[in-house]
Amino acid sequence: MPRFFVGNDHAGLSLKAAVVAHLVQAGHEVVDLGAQENVSCDYPDFAQAVAARVVAGEGMGILVCGTGQGMAMAANRIHGVRAAVCADAFSARATRLHNDANVLCLGERVIGVGVALGIVDAFVAAEFEGGRHSRRIAKFDLR
Ligand code: RB5
Repeated sequence: MPRFFVGNDHAGLSLKAAVVAHLVQAGHEVVDLGAQENVSCDYPDFAQAVAARVVAGEGMGILVCGTGQGMAMAANRIHGVRAAVCADAFSARATRLHNDANVLCLGERVIGVGVALGIVDAFVAAEFEGGRHSRRIAKFDLR
């Protein structure tokens, strides 16, 4: 089972808590890198903390902010991160199968908890298919 590193800002605090509880309930190891309080903070700090653990090969990441968008933008600046914003389970599964996404980004202001947990389940359950998708991913890095 993969280990998950989870991060959030003030706008993602509540959904982050639900995601952590859901993953722990399912038996996953979860490392919560914060934020832990509903105090205004800067999402790149948490995106970078999670991204560092992911590119170190320690596990996968889940980031939650208001929209998921800022977290994904910040995380994707770190070489080796493939962060995807998902608002539906189909995309969450597809981005694991085809893009080998290693960070899932969620928007607490966009989706409800039930949808979010279904997205998490789809992301966790799917495995990268490799093959032609590996060739395409290799093209992400311009030389
Ligand atoms: C915080 O207000 C909000 O900007 C942040 O959570 C996120 O949605 C940014 O992308």
